Amino acid sequence: MSGKERAQHNDVKRIEELRADLRHHEHLYHVLDAPEISDAEYDKRMNELKKLEAAHPELITPDSPTQRVGGKPAEGFVKAAHSRPMLSLDNAYNEEELRDWDRRVHELAGSLPVEYTAELKLDGLSVALHYEPAGDGGARLALGLTRGDGQIGEDVTTNIRTIRSVPLSIPKKLLQKLRLPQAFEVRGEVVMPEKGFELLNKEREAQGLPPAVNPRNAAAGTLRTLDPNIVAARRLVFFAYFLLTDGEYLATGQNATLDALTALGFRVNPHREKMHDVEAMLRFIASTEQQRATLGYEIDGVVIKVDSHATQLRLGYTGRAPRWAIAYKFAAQQAVTQLEDIMITVGRSGKLTPTAMLTPVFVGGVTVSRATLHNADFIERMGLVIGDWVRIERSGDVIPKVVEVIEDAQHPRGKLRFSFPSDCPECHNPVVREEDEADWRCVNADCPAKIRETLLHFGARDVMNIEGLGEAVVSQLLDRGLVHHVADLYTLTEEQLVGLERFGEKSARTLLAEIERSKKAGLARVVMGLGIRFVGERTAQQLADEFGSIDALMAASAEELERVEEVGPRISEAILDFFALPANVKLVESLNAASVDMTAEKKQRSAELAGLTFVLTGTLPTLSRDDAKQKIEAAGGKVSGSVSKKTSYIVAGEEAGSKLDKAHELKIPVLDEAGLLEMLKK
Ligand code: IVH
Repeated sequence: MSGKERAQHNDVKRIEELRADLRHHEHLYHVLDAPEISDAEYDKRMNELKKLEAAHPELITPDSPTQRVGGKPAEGFVKAAHSRPMLSLDNAYNEEELRDWDRRVHELAGSLPVEYTAELKLDGLSVALHYEPAGDGGARLALGLTRGDGQIGEDVTTNIRTIRSVPLSIPKKLLQKLRLPQAFEVRGEVVMPEKGFELLNKEREAQGLPPAVNPRNAAAGTLRTLDPNIVAARRLVFFAYFLLTDGEYLATGQNATLDALTALGFRVNPHREKMHDVEAMLRFIASTEQQRATLGYEIDGVVIKVDSHATQLRLGYTGRAPRWAIAYKFAAQQAVTQLEDIMITVGRSGKLTPTAMLTPVFVGGVTVSRATLHNADFIERMGLVIGDWVRIERSGDVIPKVVEVIEDAQHPRGKLRFSFPSDCPECHNPVVREEDEADWRCVNADCPAKIRETLLHFGARDVMNIEGLGEAVVSQLLDRGLVHHVADLYTLTEEQLVGLERFGEKSARTLLAEIERSKKAGLARVVMGLGIRFVGERTAQQLADEFGSIDALMAASAEELERVEEVGPRISEAILDFFALPANVKLVESLNAASVDMTAEKKQRSAELAGLTFVLTGTLPTLSRDDAKQKIEAAGGKVSGSVSKKTSYIVAGEEAGSKLDKAHELKIPVLDEAGLLEMLKK
């Protein structure tokens, strides 16, 4: 070995040593909360590694501890499909609901064992981390997705990397010990600890910005920040709670899964317990409530999961949530504050809603300055007067409400009577109230507030999911007369958008692409987007499943409509009323003319591609990504966002990137569009 070679050899060795050492100390500090060296010592070793890597840039690997930060700010986030939907949880608010759930679990479980694992319900946001085979036989973090709409999330990998409790790589030894394949997925919750939240708000205050409302929003905002350096400074924490692999579950149950995650180096929340009955659940809940204030991060309840995976499988899912888990939400928290004013807003249906403007007060971890007052009757019944002291209540995500007016020596009554407006505060037309209804409504079809709210609803995430169609944009589109109803969105041009405030060519194109993408959202979402009274997500889905096209839905009689599970006379009447209006029929025609897909996926799925997983990359000659995905899924196949050994085929188009390289590396067969279509034909 020459002197130069020896020096190179030593550097390689030292780099490996330092990486292993830094990973070990990161784990001690960020996962186990038990540091063994000072921050200064850690920084010193990190600097040594940085210097060595700077001298040998060819040796830098993405899982090196130096690579947590240093990414360039991104220009936006790419969307990717979840391997399996990310679901939500059903809630229980009291002992009785918990007992009901336990009873159902036992009924459905039959002879299978019923044990439970209780965990904290962390108040953060869920993310999915995909690990893929690394060259050395281990696994490395390849993709981090937000929950998004549950089906499709956003790729926030660069930001996830900065979270120190997320291992960037898992050594081969550990995988073997736990009998884990090199490709797997870990799901859990990203939270912002209270300390970080306070710090953030001090910073914001210093910059003259309004404070973030709560740690969960702050964490969500942070993860979607385009500059990873900012994310790194926020010190988010990731708690793992699910481990998914293709096919078989590895561990037999939830508690064993949490053990496995711990062994893999993930941070798992220590407050968990295996138990048999509701009594033990109630004890766990009570002790958790007592510790709540001293945890250092926010929780909004307790999650109880049926432990055994076999039993979970038997219990299955209802629409959006597993039957084998429940979230026990803590009781509402209350505070007393003063009513400063009452503000009226006009909703999408024209309904006038009064909102209490309150002196800001801290309740259950957030600052509250507004509360809903429901309607005119509510104000009257409460006898609310501006200046009154009121008790407000907040439970979980629900908008805070006013529960009573306080009157004592310290809390004298207010003086200023509030009179409910007789004109719409936005368009100034007289408002009307139907006989047996509680609400005042603006019935002017051209009321700008109604149009604005309808557009916002149409673009909302769980409706047409048009990202970027927020309040500021919608208001400008309306002010400039570019849009009068939702169908106008589909005729917008780049030139029109570029003129908007804070819009460049790039953002204009992005928004247009989002609008274009929404055309494929399908019948259920369009039906919801139309804003028919009483028709929410579930009803819209059932209508789509039943009728299959907008034409069939519009032609349906009351009787036919009421064959749908959720539809009774009240809803069928609302639907008939809606389509009886010529303006609404015209709206549907315009959507049709804009090629908005108003058909529903067939309920019966064929199974030619069952068991196969596809990864799409690059631009296909005729199919959009969504088209290709829909076709594959309709044939029973799965589409995944990342390439792994489990990928059956990769479908590559023009400008396919690293995924294609990866596929070659793993010897995964590559199809072009024609190949895919051929396969679908068979
Ligand atoms: S299990 C299908 N476990 O609560 C199972 N979720 O209301 C859903 N969450 O979206 C996830 N702590 O973001 C689970 N220990 C925990 C959790 C937890 C917080 C969140 C999660 C989920 C939401 C559902």
